[in-house]
Amino acid sequence: MAETVVLLLSIFAFVTITQGQSCSKPVGGENMDLKGDAILQTTFADQATVSFACNTGYIRDTGSPSITCNAGSWTTLTLTCKKKSCGALPDVDKGRVDYQDGISFGDKAVISCNPGYSLVGKKVLNCMDQGWDGRLPTCDAVMCVTPDDVKDATFTPNKESYIYGEVVKYKCSAGLINNGSLALTCSDEGKFDLPPPTCVSVNCEEPVTGLLEYVEGSRPPYGYQASVRVKCPPSYTLEGQSSSLLCTIDSKWSPEIPTCKKTTTSVTTPKTTTTTTTTTTTPSASVSPGPTDPRGGGSSLGIGLGITAGVLSLCGLALGYMFYKKKSTRRTNTDKETAKDEENVRLS
Ligand SMILES: *[C@@H]1O[C@H](CO)[C@@H](O)[C@H](O)[C@H]1NC(C)=O
Repeated sequence: MAETVVLLLSIFAFVTITQGQSCSKPVGGENMDLKGDAILQTTFADQATVSFACNTGYIRDTGSPSITCNAGSWTTLTLTCKKKSCGALPDVDKGRVDYQDGISFGDKAVISCNPGYSLVGKKVLNCMDQGWDGRLPTCDAVMCVTPDDVKDATFTPNKESYIYGEVVKYKCSAGLINNGSLALTCSDEGKFDLPPPTCVSVNCEEPVTGLLEYVEGSRPPYGYQASVRVKCPPSYTLEGQSSSLLCTIDSKWSPEIPTCKKTTTSVTTPKTTTTTTTTTTTPSASVSPGPTDPRGGGSSLGIGLGITAGVLSLCGLALGYMFYKKKSTRRTNTDKETAKDEENVRLS
């Protein structure tokens, strides 16, 4: 019985010693891994040698990649790994390269072109294990192609391609107005900065309609930007945004043509004045031009007033005479009566 126990213990001890001489899976440093079949193994026999290799994108910096299992433990791993460098990219003619972080594995290079040049190729290159992941792009001079033809217009210069910054000028046929810019500039991305204009005929309708009266401004036909000022007759009020109108490219007046509304407020004073004036000037209407005539209006008015005064004076005299006559007659009667009365008094 005791022998059996000893034997078992011995076997256990032997097994333990044997196992102590093997090594478990070794752990490497940063950015490295076991190389080859060793990745799949879990235990390694005494004196077994394994090698580490730097991960993708990394390269051996210093030390040895190999370690050995020695009496149950691995010798010290001296290998260190560093990121691979892709190296600086060559200069880009008419452009520039910007590195956001650097030129090592995982970094990016962004290529841009000077104004007037457009990029042909990849704008962003990545630093990979095998180097930059593409060819360096180029910066080509921007070219614009012939712009579109416009109905009733010509443009100069007319050619197949235009360099960056070159200007094309349109010209509308006589009598037509350009809607949009006449000048287009060849810009970035090989496109003109603006769409070509259109040529339109502008003709606004007669704005002096209804009760409106013409004050000043353009005469028909009303072309682009013709302007007219209108007003309403007396005792009418202008209803609308403005009395000054402008003919727009769309052949419409801006703002809209106003209208005249009868003034509702009862302003009686000016009316009375008007009536009086009319009445007093009527006798002299044939002599003097209307008071609205600015030339010599003052003197005519003076003459008119003089005549009026004369007429009034005559009327006054006539009235005065009539009144006097009546009064004197009445006084005669009164006198007679008084005399009668006196006579009666004397008699009694
Ligand atoms: C002028 O151009 C503008 C904008 O393109 C457009 O809305 C308008 O209708 C054009 N007017 C005319 C008269 O063609």
